[in-house]
Amino acid sequence: MDELKRELADLVRDSIDFITTGYRTSNSGHGENTEDDIKTGKSDEDLSLNVSSVSRRTTGDKPPGVQSEPYSESYNEKEKSLGIIAEEIANCQKCGLYKGRLNPVAGEGNPDADIMFIGEGPGEMEDIKGRPFVGRAGKLLTKMLAAIDLTREEVFITNIVKCRPPNNRTPHPEEVNACFPYLKRQIEIIQPLIICCLGGPAAKTLLNTRVGISKIRGTVQKFGEIPVIPTYHPAAVLRFPDKYKRAVWNDLKLLRDLYKELKSGT
Ligand code: URA
Ligand code: SF4
Repeated sequence: MDELKRELADLVRDSIDFITTGYRTSNSGHGENTEDDIKTGKSDEDLSLNVSSVSRRTTGDKPPGVQSEPYSESYNEKEKSLGIIAEEIANCQKCGLYKGRLNPVAGEGNPDADIMFIGEGPGEMEDIKGRPFVGRAGKLLTKMLAAIDLTREEVFITNIVKCRPPNNRTPHPEEVNACFPYLKRQIEIIQPLIICCLGGPAAKTLLNTRVGISKIRGTVQKFGEIPVIPTYHPAAVLRFPDKYKRAVWNDLKLLRDLYKELKSGT
């Protein structure tokens, strides 16, 4: 009974944390836009995050931030393989998006992550910094992670396309097709326990479906053997918090519960 009470108290605390972290934008609550209308990556604010530390699935016996040699061979190998992909991306001209990019954004985080978050594509700030989710949507993503006791350093964050589409438009199918092999290889290397798709384009691409995000969110799908939970993009939550925040919080709880379940079985 005490255990149950503690769980409940935790839940309430977490949801209050998350629910109070959103932003209200000047146009929130107006219009009939759907999440698919919402362009992602409208970044106007930097995030100075310390990404020097990593935590690992294998042992987790060192505090984050401690500079030391990696704990496992597999971590080392994964880091190296991801580095090779990042180099290929840096030189890539497989689609027209390379022309407009300042910096490619391969992704970042723990090479041995249990959970991967996949967005649509770099926005303005991401293009400038060469890092994923570092603008306002990124700041909210960081808070969403914190609400379920995750840090950016322990997960891996990336996008469907690695170069910024002009004016943050949705990437075209030929661009997505050209870039998808990089993401596929990243997933194969990291071998996450769970993938979370942020927004319709990510969910549609990964799950090879035309079903809209409002239908598919909050369900557990599969990419190969890997469970996939789609949810709304944090940029959608920023623009229309009243509409999306509750659903995203529910999806995060689903993610957290599934993660606990999978971890207890490993
Ligand atoms: N929106 C995205 O989809 N990805 C980013 O990296 C930033 C904003
Ligand atoms: Fe290459 Fe992807 Fe950039 Fe297109 S978006 S140029 S496929 S890395």
